[in-house]
Amino acid sequence: MDAEIKKGLAGVVVDTTAISKVNPETNSLLYRGYPVQQLADTQPFEAVAHLLWHGELPSAEQLAELRATERVHRALTPEVRAAIDLLPLDAHPMDVVRTAVSAIGAIDLAGPGSVLDASGSAEQNLERSVRLFAALPAIVAYGQRRRRGEAVVEPRDDLDYSANFLWMTFGNDPEPVVVDAFNRSMILYAEHSFNASTFTARVITSTLSDLYSAVVGAIGALKGPLHGGANEAVMHILDEIGSADQVVPWLDTALAEKRKIMGFGHRVYKHGDSRVPTMRAALDQLVEHFERPDLAELYATLESEFVARKGIYPNLDYPSGPAYHLIGFDTLTFTPLFIASRVTGWTAHIMEQAASNALIRPLSAYDGPAERNVPDWTA
Ligand code: COA
Repeated sequence: MDAEIKKGLAGVVVDTTAISKVNPETNSLLYRGYPVQQLADTQPFEAVAHLLWHGELPSAEQLAELRATERVHRALTPEVRAAIDLLPLDAHPMDVVRTAVSAIGAIDLAGPGSVLDASGSAEQNLERSVRLFAALPAIVAYGQRRRRGEAVVEPRDDLDYSANFLWMTFGNDPEPVVVDAFNRSMILYAEHSFNASTFTARVITSTLSDLYSAVVGAIGALKGPLHGGANEAVMHILDEIGSADQVVPWLDTALAEKRKIMGFGHRVYKHGDSRVPTMRAALDQLVEHFERPDLAELYATLESEFVARKGIYPNLDYPSGPAYHLIGFDTLTFTPLFIASRVTGWTAHIMEQAASNALIRPLSAYDGPAERNVPDWTA
């Protein structure tokens, strides 16, 4: 077979999408045509979720309706809590969230249906999307609190999505500056075209499997450090370096050992990630609020040293890792936060794939042994 192999599908365009446009030449990212920076500066995350699902920003009534439904599904249900409680306390939080989503799916789809109707109608998939969007904050928050030996914090109806998420995680009234930085991060992480986890979700959807299975598969793909796991890995690196004066010797050793420096580089963006300036501004707000100039100095020194040596720029995980740390999240919770955001993009893609489906099934070029006969051991 002499077909050209595109390892990692690099450069391959597999389908069209109307959900987002990544343009590495102009360093821009559009959600349904809107620059993500403008959305992060002006919108609550709920409005961006509506935009990704429906193609337009919500009217005041539509936003109120989504917020009302989101409140209905916010609390951790006893079944999901029981499923989480069966897991060891030191299970990775990504595994905890993956299991919880799987349990939600199994419970929702239980009954006399068959695999033939599990994929659901467009209306059912929208309902399932809203339900997962609403349920994930409590799952992520409980994951962290349970590990810390803290009791569940019930949701508060007077708080919108981002503030309530922080309330359920930390059990205290979140400061507006923190809510603002967190809301921005949720919007910036929400969608990024055919990245590995989204493509995984589309592959699963293309078999006419259900939305929950597609999200569970996407979580598995997101867990890897070359994808979502990088925000967690960034914090490990910053912890390992310790302070700005240690950056140069640390980097000398890391590069000599050919280590990948997490939070830098991107498959699509080669001149800088369009989302970084907005998240960096949010990080700066948090640094000022929590009075942590030492962390800002370490961050800036590693960035300038690495860019000077390799010409590879930070991606979104680089500023979001330390931002989540300052907000108070455990490092292990960072990638689950990414799930809570990206579930909006995944489910938008699942619905887009389902609406215009073709089974995703590429070819491979065989390079194993030539045809041969099974040995006759009796001879
Ligand atoms: N640290 C050190 N070197 C890096 C690097 C990093 N973060 N990112 C890329 N490089 C180097 C590679 O080692 C490779 O060098 P080589 O040609 O000498 O072998 C070259 O740059 C090209 O990298 P490659 O991994 O082939 O590019 P890619 O497009 O396949 O990879 C990533 C993109 C994201 C997988 C890669 O940049 C990476 O692993 N980054 C760290 C993980 C991360 O932050 N992921 C989150 C992405 S949003």
